[in-house]
Amino acid sequence: MAFDPLQERGIPLDEQLRNWRELNVTPIDPDAADPYTRCRIITMNGIEVEAVMFSHHAARHCSDPDVKRRLVQVRYIESQQQKAVNWLLPGSSSVLETTIAYEQVAVDLTAWVARMEPDPYLKQAYQFGVLEDFDHLYRYANLYEMIEHRKADKIVDRLTEVMPGRPTYLHHRDPVDNVRRPYERSRTEPLSRLHALTITAAEQQTMNFYMNVGPLHMEPIARQLYQEIGMVEEEHVTHYESLVDPGESWWEMLLNHEFNECYLYHSFMETETDPRVRAIWELHLGMELEHLRLAGELFKRFDGRDPEQVLAPALPPPVTFESNKGYIRDLLTTQVDVTTLGTGYVREAHERFTRMQQAVMGGEEPPSERVIEDNRAISGREYRLETEGPHPVGVRLTP
Ligand SMILES: [Fe+2]
Ligand SMILES: [Fe+2]
Ligand SMILES: [Fe+2]
Ligand SMILES: [Fe+2]
Repeated sequence: MAFDPLQERGIPLDEQLRNWRELNVTPIDPDAADPYTRCRIITMNGIEVEAVMFSHHAARHCSDPDVKRRLVQVRYIESQQQKAVNWLLPGSSSVLETTIAYEQVAVDLTAWVARMEPDPYLKQAYQFGVLEDFDHLYRYANLYEMIEHRKADKIVDRLTEVMPGRPTYLHHRDPVDNVRRPYERSRTEPLSRLHALTITAAEQQTMNFYMNVGPLHMEPIARQLYQEIGMVEEEHVTHYESLVDPGESWWEMLLNHEFNECYLYHSFMETETDPRVRAIWELHLGMELEHLRLAGELFKRFDGRDPEQVLAPALPPPVTFESNKGYIRDLLTTQVDVTTLGTGYVREAHERFTRMQQAVMGGEEPPSERVIEDNRAISGREYRLETEGPHPVGVRLTP
């Protein structure tokens, strides 16, 4: 039976508040947990942070005090949801271990979305981006071996390969070449709207995470690598957010946000392997159904349309964390040397790209290359996790 969030009853808003004891969730055991449970936690944290920040921005553009009060009532609950979700992560993991998990999310979530995306232009945007986060995973895994003397397969558990993607130094494009063409809200498939919201939220939390935790490291190479990859995540947020039609009203955007939260909690409820975490996805789904209903009321009142006119009639197939090794290898073979020019994609290093590269490198080797060389010097070889055989293409390792 298809699940239609507009037809389901949620938890009434005045029953959604949790006390401190209820918010004090027991974290997952990092050694025993399914890596994809951790990936779902990180994804939902990104989604809840986006829900909170979007609501703040909406409130700042809203002059009606009653509507502002309605927004904050829901926002307070979103904020509690964010706490419950993110506090499932155990404090015993290092910042770098969490970083590696963030990049695993970026790889397997974006690959899934790329595979499911119906619009070819949007699909290309995800295929393009995933090869970059795939490379970040490899750079951080080498940093991890070098400074924490551990191997990333302890975190990614052979579900995701670790090897070069599109080399990170090639991600530094002129900012104007990161702006994509948006979908058209009247013509796009509802699934495409959900995809763009999800990946934007995931990249945004990664960007925020690196800008905050980068300077918590003491090792110079770690501090520099977080700066470099942090700048790429800024590019990724621009790349993905520009896919969304800016012509959506605040109320349509709110409606899409709440619908997407329903979609993802429902997806993760269906696919979660840890029963305790699954219970949280189910509880939060019950809350989101009510958020969606309330957003629908605002949409009807201010946009004069029915939510059914813009939302999918039922939820699409669940967003699923699974291995994408073959898919990534195919993309490496066909797209590793692609860059952007304007809103399109090209294979040659055009003039604006070359100028940006020269300006940002300052005539030196970037941290993302040095980290590999440094680890080779210390460990006798670089770190890779190639479970499916040798790397499909030779990737140039020095600029
Ligand atoms: Fe939420
Ligand atoms: Fe990344
Ligand atoms: Fe990214
Ligand atoms: Fe919500």
